Amino acid sequence: MKRSGWIALMLLAGASQGGFAAEDHLNEQQKLGRRLFEQSCGVCHTRPTLVAGMYGPELSKESSGGREDVMRVIISNGTPRMPGFKYTFNSDQIAAIAAYIKTMPRGTQDLPTARTPTKAATPAQ
Ligand code: HEC
Repeated sequence: MKRSGWIALMLLAGASQGGFAAEDHLNEQQKLGRRLFEQSCGVCHTRPTLVAGMYGPELSKESSGGREDVMRVIISNGTPRMPGFKYTFNSDQIAAIAAYIKTMPRGTQDLPTARTPTKAATPAQ
């Protein structure tokens, strides 16, 4: 095998040990979903730094009971603490985002070192 082939193989082996290998298996719809998700949802649904908390819950294929149709409704209409996106995205884009969420394993944002500190009870509560 040519030397460049080995280098490519080593890079591949290295990449598959990282957390991002799954992204290579995304289809076009899921890739679109990932891009939109990173633009519009990450701010509340991904952890900005190891020690920071998140505003929204972690999302994964098990969110919304694992139901893509429910995810699409939530993404369109929002919730009391989340804006709806039906005027931002069309239904294909919303479907793409839900399809991408269905590829995400649980626990990606739930690092043992990064749990949101449980609130200490205060007399006011
Ligand atoms: C302003 C912050 C914010 C943004 C931006 C945001 N969300 Fe949310 N999201 C929340 C919060 C907070 C909740 C939890 C529900 C609540 O408290 O109202 C939530 C809940 C959800 C749920 C339901 C989770 C479950 O377990 O059922 C889904 C799905 C979801 N968001 C998807 C998205 C997607 C996709 C986007 C981007 C298009 C997005 N959210 C953008 C704050 C946000």
